[in-house]
Order: sequence, then structure tokens, then C-alpha cells
Amino acid sequence: MSNSPQLELKQSSAELRGEKTGIRQLPTVSKFIDTTTCIGCKACEVACQEWNDLRLVSTQQTGTYQTMPTLDANFWNLIKFREEEREGVLQWLMRKDQCMHCADPGCLKACPAPGAIVQYENGIVDVNPDACIGCGLCATGCPFDVPRFHVRTGKMAKCTLCVDRVSVGIEPACVKACPTGCLQFGTKEDMVALGQQRVETLKKNGQPNATLYDPPGVGGTAVVTVLAHGDHPEWYGLPADPQIPASVWLSRKLLRPIGLLAMAGTVGAALGHFLRFGPSQPAELQPEVTPTVSGPEDIVVGDHIVRHRLSTRVVHWLTALTFFGSLLSGLPIWTPILGWMSKIFGGLSVCRWIHPWFGLGFVATTLVMFVLWVKNMRMQKTDWGWLGPKALAYMRHSSEDPDVGKYNGGQKLFFFLVAALALILVATGLVLWFPRELAAPLPGLSWVLHDAGFILFAAAIIVHIYLGTAALPGTFRSMTRGTVTKSWARLHHPRWYREVTGEPGGALPTTDDAKK
Ligand code: HEM
Ligand code: SF4
Ligand code: SF4
Repeated sequence: MSNSPQLELKQSSAELRGEKTGIRQLPTVSKFIDTTTCIGCKACEVACQEWNDLRLVSTQQTGTYQTMPTLDANFWNLIKFREEEREGVLQWLMRKDQCMHCADPGCLKACPAPGAIVQYENGIVDVNPDACIGCGLCATGCPFDVPRFHVRTGKMAKCTLCVDRVSVGIEPACVKACPTGCLQFGTKEDMVALGQQRVETLKKNGQPNATLYDPPGVGGTAVVTVLAHGDHPEWYGLPADPQIPASVWLSRKLLRPIGLLAMAGTVGAALGHFLRFGPSQPAELQPEVTPTVSGPEDIVVGDHIVRHRLSTRVVHWLTALTFFGSLLSGLPIWTPILGWMSKIFGGLSVCRWIHPWFGLGFVATTLVMFVLWVKNMRMQKTDWGWLGPKALAYMRHSSEDPDVGKYNGGQKLFFFLVAALALILVATGLVLWFPRELAAPLPGLSWVLHDAGFILFAAAIIVHIYLGTAALPGTFRSMTRGTVTKSWARLHHPRWYREVTGEPGGALPTTDDAKK
């Protein structure tokens, strides 16, 4: 933020409640740029560098008089030299490229860090580097490709419309330096009036397509630009109808409430199920003391059967640890409602740093788990019934299928769902890790898929935890001590029970049957 000007805020990134107090109303300000009187002298570029104390950036020859190919974290104001040859006439279309200070700023809407991007009451959009976590999501929200990032810190930087000068009543440095008067500064109302006047003059002087560029798709901008060829803003490198990308809306406005509802709803459904149906356990309970084993699995040890050997249990818990590491470091980035979770890791910046590493750990352990378990997960014809009626019957404890082997159809489907979601999360997560290196719409698309993936995953894991603990007593121990009781195996996995023990046995009566 430019020396933290004492201006009232209109809105702020990742805010929980509105910042607007309405105590002090300020008129919206605006910069007026007339591309038809710009002579490309670059006085504005120099003034911007000087006033904002920006580091010197090497110029780059691109075959024109343009200083460098594009904006930079240390170069916020760039005169673009464009040569357009139309109907045999060479047009030299110069435009001052900078942040447009949108009335509805996509950068602010996309930013996950509270207060990293603010919009003052006078319409200026500013960045607070202290709050910025360098995630790059603002760039996916900006329709003008403006946010740039410092190489070392990763923090976002852009034109501030000299808010530090404006807040004490003086014009931006570039406007002060411009020798032709093609830059002006004032209230938005005055600048629009000036622009319309200039457009009328141009139209009278043989430029019938002249317009004032103030795009409504972003609610208008606090930088209004006179274009002689207003029917072709793309000739100046401006989008014809800029809009905040749909990914910002999908992620922030749609998936956020859906995700919160899905997670809370799944917890509520598990609780409701437990109250209605209670646990599913054998009527004939076996001794509580379950031996801990580290040897091979699928063998009988006294009254118990070894279900998971030590290596499988270790991989399972590493997967769980890295999953929750990813989830807990991702959730505070996802929504400010869960922003308090960032304290677990020491702040949002640490979450941003650590999250992808947890994610990679999770994917690596999931891969090992996949290799270890896949041979037991081959889908049989009867397993597909778990997509519908069998799952419902199972949840009502109304039938235990005598043909269920070591894993039932529901567990197999969950296994493959986990593998598919891990793939989606790693692919989209890698894009989000380095969003600046990739062109739109890939980062935006990845953002939405990453959100949808983790929401589905979180809901599925809640069900998984419920079934592995309260709903099916005796299951959790299979992942801690490695063994289950014979009666547990006979009730929930009868075919596996028969195969391992060599004893006959269909489904055992459950506590529900005993009650009947
Ligand atoms: C290889 C795997 C993964 C990688 C590389 C990865 C990377 C990322 C990146 C770079 C972001 C953008 C925000 C940020 O910079 O921190 C992000 C967001 C997020 N990730 Fe991951 N992630 C992975 C796996 C996971 C997993 C397993 C989960 C949860 C189960 C998860 C949950 C989230 C959440 C909740 C967000 C916030 C989304 C938002 O801001 O809309 N991620 N991830
Ligand atoms: S031009 Fe881009 S960076 Fe500037 S306010 Fe608009 S969305 Fe934000
Ligand atoms: S890099 Fe991330 S935290 Fe910083 S301004 Fe952009 S979106 Fe906000």
C-alpha cells in the first residue's frame, strides 16, 4: 500500500464483512488518457519510476520504440507502441498500459489474502505487500493482464494511481510530467465529460469510430481512454469487452457456499445416521484386547484375523497426515471464514508455502497405497450394485452380503475415487503452484477443478472416517493394531472370513437382528 493513505475503504480482498462505513463519501477519481495526442515521449514512464522509487529495469529492444515487452513488478506504466497496417495505411497506435483501476476489480475478487488488495472509497485499487502471500491468483482474475510479481518475494505489484499523492490533493506523477496534456486527472464525472468532448471533436475531424473506453463489463474503470479506432480496441491491446473471468465467480461465489454446505451437511448426515441406525456390530462380541501385529496379513491369530500389515498401516497414516496437512493449509486460503486455521501453521504465507508440499506428499503416499492395494480392489460384477441399492441396504444395516470379500464394492469404489481425485488435485495443484508461467484459461480452470476436487474429497473422507469408527465398531483397530475380530470379519466380509479361516460361515447376526 502506498504509505497507507488515510482513505476510507470501499472493499477489501477476502473480507468477511463489508469495510464500508459510509462516514466519509469521496468522489470517484479518474485518469484521462488521450491516445490521439500521445507522442510517445515516455515522460510518464520516467515520472512513475521516480515517484514510486522503483528499481531500474533493463530496457529490451523489441523492434519498436517500446521500452520493454510488457509491464514489470518494477515498471508499472508502459507506453505500448503498436503498428497496425489497415487498408494500406500504417497506424501508429500508442497507448499507456497500466492498471485500469476497475470499479469491479477481478484481482480483488480473486485474492485470498485479507486486505492484500483494497479499493478505496475514491475508486483506486491498491496492493498491500505486507498482506500479499504471493499466490498469483489476482492475475487469474484480472482481464487486463496487469498484476506482476517480484522475482524474490513473489509479491504482487502494480500502478497505485499515485494514491499517496491523490490522497493529499495532487495529481498522479505521470499526469504532472506529461508535456502534451494527453493525460488529465480529476473526478470520474469530469474526466468522462472531457473524454466525450474529445470524442465529438475526433468524430467531426474524420474519426467516426472514436470512443471513450470505459468498459461496463468491469463496472467502468478509473482510467478512461480516448481511442480513435474505438471499434477495434484490440488494435491498442485492449480487450473489447473485459469481464471478470467465470472461474472467479465459480470459485468464490458458487463453490465456496456449496463446499461449506457439503462439508457441514456430510457431518450432519453422519450424525443423523448414527442417531437413527446406531453402530453395526456383531451381536456376539469378542474380547476387547486385540493383538498388535507386524507380520503378514490375511492370517488367523487366535480369535483375530490380521487385516493390515504394518507397512500398509504406516502408508495409510502417512496418507491421512499429508491429506489433512493439505486440507488444513488449503482451507484458510479457500475462504476467510476458515482463515483462523492458518494460525496452525503460523500464518497464511506459511500455508501458501507449505500447502503444495503437503499435496505432493499426499499424492506420493496415495500412489504407494494404490500399488499396495490395487490387487484386492478388482471390481466384480456384483460390486457395481454398491453404486445404488446395495449401499442403501448396507447403510440401513438391513443386509450383509454373504459374498463380500476383503473389500466390499463401496470400499473399492472409494479407493478408485481417491485415486482419481488425487490425480485431479495434483494436476490442477501444479498449475496453481506456478500460475504465472501458464496462459489463461488454464490457471482459472485448474482453480475451479481443484476446489471441486477437494470439496468432493473432504465430503468422502468424512464418510470414510465415520464408517471406519462410530458406524462400524472394531474397524478402526484394523488400522492401528492391524487385526480385527473373527466375528467382525464374519459379519462385514464373510467371503474373506471363509477364505482366511477355512471355516464355513455366512453373515453373523448383528445387534439389529438380535433386537428383532
Ligand atoms: C500435489 C497436490 C497439490 C498441489 C501441488 C496443490 C497446490 C495448490 C495451490 C498452489 C493452491 C493455490 C493456493 C496456494 O497457492 O496455496 C491450492 C489451493 C488449495 N488446495 Fe491444493 N494442492 C494439492 C493438493 C491438495 C489436496 C490434497 C487438498 C485437500 C484435500 C487441497 C486443497 C486445497 C484448497 C482447499 C485450496 C484453496 C483453494 C482456493 O483458494 O480456492 N490441495 N493448492
Ligand atoms: S486492471 Fe486488473 S489489476 Fe487493475 S484493478 Fe482491474 S483487475 Fe485489478
Ligand atoms: S499474489 Fe495472491 S495474495 Fe498477493 S495480491 Fe495477488 S492474489 Fe492477493
